[in-house]
Amino acid sequence: SVEQLPDEKLGPELAAAAAQLRDGGLIAFPTETVYGLGADARSSFAVGRIFSAKGRPSDNPLIVHIANRQQLDELVLPYPQLASALMDSFWPGPLTIVLPARPDVLSPLVTAGLASVGIRIPDHRTALALLELAGCPVAAPSANRSGRPSPTLARHVLEDLDGRIDGVVDDGATGVGLESTVVELVGDQMIRILRPGGITLEALRIAAPHATIDSASLEEPEVAPRSPGMKYTHYAPKGELVLVQGAPDAVTAYIHRQVERAASSGERTGVLAFEERLQGYKADRVLSLGSEAELETAAHRLYAALRAFDEGSVQRIWSESSSEQGIGAALMNRLAKAAGNRVVRV
Ligand code: TXA
Ligand code: MG
Repeated sequence: SVEQLPDEKLGPELAAAAAQLRDGGLIAFPTETVYGLGADARSSFAVGRIFSAKGRPSDNPLIVHIANRQQLDELVLPYPQLASALMDSFWPGPLTIVLPARPDVLSPLVTAGLASVGIRIPDHRTALALLELAGCPVAAPSANRSGRPSPTLARHVLEDLDGRIDGVVDDGATGVGLESTVVELVGDQMIRILRPGGITLEALRIAAPHATIDSASLEEPEVAPRSPGMKYTHYAPKGELVLVQGAPDAVTAYIHRQVERAASSGERTGVLAFEERLQGYKADRVLSLGSEAELETAAHRLYAALRAFDEGSVQRIWSESSSEQGIGAALMNRLAKAAGNRVVRV
């Protein structure tokens, strides 16, 4: 409704935030995926501050956010027709497309020295309003300290980065709750998924029926990852997380036994489960991912749940698994990473 438009609610704050961005500032802002930590992508001073604030390795490139397709032409060299087709289908939206970078426009820190740059137009009114007001391309990784879950609330941003950044635009919870899908194109024939995310494999197939879609690199993340970010151990909770796969009854029985055993040796236990079986668990902390028939809800809740286990000082955590259809692929990818690939099949 009209009264919820960001220019009404957040107008003066957004104008100030945009001015800070143009001035080399670091501003966290919501997108439809997770909160991003933004800086002027043309300025090495500003972008350098992102890496120090996050404690991020400098060889991991940043995604550039723009408000519209006109801004794109200034940043990239000619690209495959397939890329335009994906933009038509998914922008604004949670799809980051790796494109050939035009030299000498973006700070080299953004691309970590690569000849390519990952770009997206976020599907979020407040993000778009901020990007338009700033008028510059905005480099923005997720607004967490490196090694922490991505923030889905402004409060998460402040937990990790208060005192290290110049501000956060608080517009409530983000939508998808997991980061964008990152793709690279091989000519007009092939889409390579470098990171599963908000745009599903199934949606890419429908939008590009003639392209081959390759996500093989996801199954062997330790083999020369093409997306530099995939090689870093991502978030790992303070407690030891195990991802349990198998038939629902077997999974429940296994987790039940493991929780009892750990509890009897005095450990604080946690379970991450779907609504359908939630009542059966007797751990110190049992957190719900919502119904397994609605994995969008699980994606939306995952990172906040992982933060909550840390706050509760849980030492051993077991998580149920979901199907890898649709957003389930990204969900299981992030859970497996958080589990440091400790996946048990029962
Ligand atoms: O949803 C998102 O994508 C969020 C919001 C804020 O937009 N941003 C985000 O950024 O997740 P970050 O920096 O946490 O993840 C960027 C990912 C990394 O895995 C990085 O390696 C990959 O994108 N990437 C960036 N530029 C690339 C490039 N030129 N080639 C290959 N991978 C690239
Ligand atoms: Mg991140």
